[in-house]
Amino acid sequence: MRAYYRSLKPFILWREQARPLNWAQVFGRIAPLELEIGFGNGDYLAARAQQHPEHDFVGIELEWEGVQRALRKIAGAGLTNVRILLGDARPILGRAIPLQSLTRVYALFPCPWPKKHHHKHRLFDQQQLQLINSRLQPNGEFYLLTDHEEYFQWVLGNLTDTGFLAYARTVPPQVNTKYEQKWRAAGQTRFYELTLTKIQHCEIPLREDVPMETHRVKSFDLERFQPIDIHEEVHVVFKETRYDPVRQIAMTRVVVVEDDLTQHFWIEIAWEGSQWRIRPAPGCGVVPTVGVQRALDAVRAACDAD
Ligand SMILES: C[S@@+](CC[C@H](N)C(=O)[O-])C[C@H]1O[C@@H](n2cnc3c(N)ncnc32)[C@H](O)[C@@H]1O
Repeated sequence: MRAYYRSLKPFILWREQARPLNWAQVFGRIAPLELEIGFGNGDYLAARAQQHPEHDFVGIELEWEGVQRALRKIAGAGLTNVRILLGDARPILGRAIPLQSLTRVYALFPCPWPKKHHHKHRLFDQQQLQLINSRLQPNGEFYLLTDHEEYFQWVLGNLTDTGFLAYARTVPPQVNTKYEQKWRAAGQTRFYELTLTKIQHCEIPLREDVPMETHRVKSFDLERFQPIDIHEEVHVVFKETRYDPVRQIAMTRVVVVEDDLTQHFWIEIAWEGSQWRIRPAPGCGVVPTVGVQRALDAVRAACDAD
């Protein structure tokens, strides 16, 4: 197999799939299931999947570059027990990962966001630990390894009411990931390890899709089309509009931010012969939410304003 070969077979388009994911269908079997959050290059995920062919593995990573590297490793090793999801682990855990389906969750060297005004980006506050708990089976484990003591203490401070029993210690280098190598090369010889065992269940239900109402309007005038942004509990920001006069299709680009989910997509306004149909453009992989509906409603209002 050539070094650059990447199969997309392990890659799950979670926004396009029925949620929550059905692991028996995804893997074609039922096996202990491990999840890595922020796998970076996929070094550890691929190595662990190779060592444990009797387990199944899911990796979630925010950056496409990391996903590509992991896909190459998975293909190179011929692994069939790994699946990869691209995106923010928080909405994926909340919407796509079935309750009590995981045996182990781990995060190696998560970004510590040391500056105070960046703390809001940190993973594993109390709410996220409760979310992880709810997706773990009884006695399931969450494992965290970090180079950053202050971040480690911050996570330890978030454990109240998370249903976990904690075991914390310092350890020598042991996982050989890119970031462990980086800190090792910088002279760090001890890292901070936290093992959380689930002893009580936290009930965090799945976040479900909202049924979408698409709209039909009598008129659409590109010159006067100015959808109005929304800044309430949901943020809807319109970016640009394109129009194809031959096909009589307009597309308006929008960003919708709500809770922990940010979505960038296009809304299509298409002439159907007697009226214009407004809907999320096919292929954008939109998760149907209250915010998406507000965006569709704002487009309808902008058409009706003619
Ligand atoms: C410091 S790197 C560590 C990578 C790898 N675990 C290692 O040890 O080399 C942190 C990784 O977490 C990913 N990440 C950050 N926030 C994330 C989120 N909310 N969901 C999923 N991945 C995230 C980043 O893209 C990055 O690849």
